[in-house]
Amino acid sequence: MPRVFKATNIGKEEKEVKKDYLDRHMPHVICEDTVKKGEVFRVKVRMGEHYTHPDDYDHYISTIQLWNRETLLAETRYSSGAYGNKPANAEVDFYISAPEVSMNLSAMAVCTKHGLWQSEDIPVKVI
Ligand SMILES: [Fe+2]
Repeated sequence: MPRVFKATNIGKEEKEVKKDYLDRHMPHVICEDTVKKGEVFRVKVRMGEHYTHPDDYDHYISTIQLWNRETLLAETRYSSGAYGNKPANAEVDFYISAPEVSMNLSAMAVCTKHGLWQSEDIPVKVI
């Protein structure tokens, strides 16, 4: 089982000492906090807030996944060079249909050198 780096498990001190490393690997789920049942809505997943991640042949973000609790909703894959071999904040927009009950969205991302990273959970109310 691989180690999963979770946003919720990273302490304040560690966040300060390794803030660029942590920031560039952390996926963020960005979407409306309330959606209508059956409505198709956009969920953006963006890597990092303040620091970009490398896009080298042996070090890049290869996968971004969107989860609703334990259910995988969508995923995208990147090859090295997708961002022109320049550091970037990889991001992807997923369009999903709101189910009947409220959701708890999270994202997972894979760095080919630094492993598996999990975002914070984002609750989405379905009305
Ligand atoms: Fe990395």
